[in-house]
Amino acid sequence: MFKIVNKRILNSQVKLMDIYAPHIAKKAEPGQFIILRINEKGERVPLTIADFDREKGTVTIIFQEVGKTTKELGSLNEGDTILDFAGPLGIPSKLDNVKKAAVIGGGLGTAIAYPQAKKLNFLGAEVHAIIGFRNKELIILEEEMKAVSNKLFVTTDDGSNGTKGFVTDILKKLIEEGNEYNLVIAIGPLVMMKAISELTRPYNIKTIVSMNPIMIDGTGMCGGCRVTVGGEIKFACVDGPDFDGHKVDFDEAIRRQSMYKKHEAEVVKKHQC
Ligand code: FES
Repeated sequence: MFKIVNKRILNSQVKLMDIYAPHIAKKAEPGQFIILRINEKGERVPLTIADFDREKGTVTIIFQEVGKTTKELGSLNEGDTILDFAGPLGIPSKLDNVKKAAVIGGGLGTAIAYPQAKKLNFLGAEVHAIIGFRNKELIILEEEMKAVSNKLFVTTDDGSNGTKGFVTDILKKLIEEGNEYNLVIAIGPLVMMKAISELTRPYNIKTIVSMNPIMIDGTGMCGGCRVTVGGEIKFACVDGPDFDGHKVDFDEAIRRQSMYKKHEAEVVKKHQC
């Protein structure tokens, strides 16, 4: 059993939990994820590792209450336990030898972008962080991102905080101003990662995206998390979740993601009755 040692509400939909899992904390690296199961009847939920503390033996997860299981997880409190917490899974992000990077988080993707920015900052890279949200109520990890970046830009779609507009607007401006990034990391909704990848393509800037498709076993066996990258089938759980944004077939990934939305909405509705 894995104990929840800290719980924090980041906004009306997003919660943070520190889970005591010393074996995972010891090995975890940015870009990796865990798969948890709340109880014997629970479904398996993959969540990217948002942070880890090797000394305290804790792993931080940040999740949005979008489905039945994440709502159930959000209802747990400090001191409660989770049955399974397996990881670290996936290939760690390659962040060595980067001089200047733009790290972009869209919405909840900021929770995944944060450990990347933190590691790049630790390795001595100049980090420009750009985080975007629909409105100011949804902003998460602003202080944390500020602490690990040389410059932080916040955007909101409605202009209620930071710059009105999208993360792509800021990145475009920064590139046009002459910032020579040798790495761009974009993590967030598929449409955002696609837009960033299209923006950086003509400049030939290496662009890494983190794919978060449906995952079931997390071991490369079920095929649930398949994505097409450079014309080849890849599995996000074992070949990723990081991939070259210039090679990902985003249109296919967007189609596959929408296949399950209706079913999830029906399950949530059923359990609210
Ligand atoms: Fe089953 Fe990746 S989750 S192959």
